Order: sequence, then structure tokens, then C-alpha cells
Amino acid sequence: MNKTELLYEGKAKKIWKTEDENLLISEFKDDLTAFNGEMKSSEAGKGALNNKISTELFKYLKENGIQTHFVEMLDDNNMLHKKCKVIPIEVIIRNIATGSLTRTLGIEDGKILPFTLVEFDYKNDELGDPKINDQHALILGLVKHQDELDKLRRVAREINDILKPYFFEKGLKLVDFKLEFGYDSNENIILIDELSPDNCRFWDVESGESMDKDRFRKGKGGLKVAYENVLNRILNK
Ligand code: TYD
Repeated sequence: MNKTELLYEGKAKKIWKTEDENLLISEFKDDLTAFNGEMKSSEAGKGALNNKISTELFKYLKENGIQTHFVEMLDDNNMLHKKCKVIPIEVIIRNIATGSLTRTLGIEDGKILPFTLVEFDYKNDELGDPKINDQHALILGLVKHQDELDKLRRVAREINDILKPYFFEKGLKLVDFKLEFGYDSNENIILIDELSPDNCRFWDVESGESMDKDRFRKGKGGLKVAYENVLNRILNK
């Protein structure tokens, strides 16, 4: 499958049209951004690692009954996937308090939450991706019906129930992560975007070390080594 026209360039991926109008190619970039683009850098090889990690996780989720946009990994940096209509909601799932939850609500960093928290952010760079509730989402017309919001929450929890024990067995705590969803050509809501250490937080069970983009956010270094380590654990190497 060949790229025909650049559809969109985001912070971490370029999205290309292909010869098949129902399929797109995501090209994973080496660029890193944080805090809504205020912090910028690049790490050679990061894009390929995220492509490989996302590929493995999408395959694992499919084996466990979760529908995703994934079709196949084409090469190091390129993934073929279904074209979907993006729902402009970032679904954030949290098992342990850190990051913005700690900053905004003062919950102690590292506190295990009494139950898994699912939050919605409105995907809108100009507004800084504000946190929204169900009523905001319906007033803004981000989805048509409450049952679609219920589905986003239900599938997000199912994905967490699949991935949390999967990573724990590999010595990683799945602290929190962000998911995106879209409508496929049959109007089904399916998982899209990527699943990688750019949008998941992983803490090593033994050392507590961050194995994700927090290494960049906190200026710690060793980002690529950490992402490689996550991939190797997924591949059981
Ligand atoms: P969060 O703590 O809300 O944000 P911040 O990175 O500002 O501390 O992040 C929760 C999880 O969701 C974390 O794993 C990173 C991911 N995430 C994204 O991938 N993109 C985003 O735009 C946001 C806000 C979070």
C-alpha cells in the first residue's frame, strides 16, 4: 500500500491517504512534545519504537475481543489502519494518581486509586484540551448520544482490565493512559490512534522508575532505552 497525499501532520505522527480510500497510513515521528507543545525535542528511533509497541498492543487487544483500527505494520515507522471519523475526546484511564490529577486535585503522587478513574478531555489544542463531563460533550456535539459516552467508558475499562495484568506480569505498573476512539465505516466505535509510552505511564514494579514520556517531561534522559525496554518486555526478550 502506497502513500498518496498527506492528510494531516500532528505532533507525533503524519497521517497519509493511500490508494484505498478506506485505509490510511500513520507515520510515527521521532518528535517529542509535552505540555500542549510548550516543550519540544526529538529522539532518533522513538517513532519506530512506538510503531512496534502499538502494533503489538493492538494485536493483543484484538486477540482479547477489542476492535481497533489496526491493519498491519508496514515498516519501521509506518502503520496501515482503517480510516475512521475521529471522536474529539481523549479518554484518560487512571489506576494510580500522578501528573495532572496530582497537580489539579492535590491527590498524593503514587496513591493507588480506590477504583479506576476514567476522564474525558476535549481534544482542542486552542483551548488546551480542557477536562469535560458528559453534559459538556453532548452540548458540544462531540457525540450524539449518552450511550456513546457510556460505551467509551466501558471499552476503556475493558482495555484497562486486559492491559493492567498483562503489563504487571512483565514487571510494569500501568499507571495511567490516554485512548482515542473513532467511528469505522459501519459507524462502530473502535479504538484508534496509538498505544505507546508517549501516551501511557509505566512504572517499573521493582524500582518505581518511569519507563515512559515522563522521562522527557521531567528532563530525566534515557527515554529511548526505556522505550526499548518496554518493547523487549512486550516481546518477552
Ligand atoms: P495527565 O496526567 O492528565 O497529563 P500530564 O501529562 O499533563 O501530566 O496524563 C494522563 C495520561 O494520559 C498519561 O499517561 C499521559 C496521557 N496523555 C496523553 O497521552 N495526551 C494528553 O494530551 C494528555 C493530557 C494525557
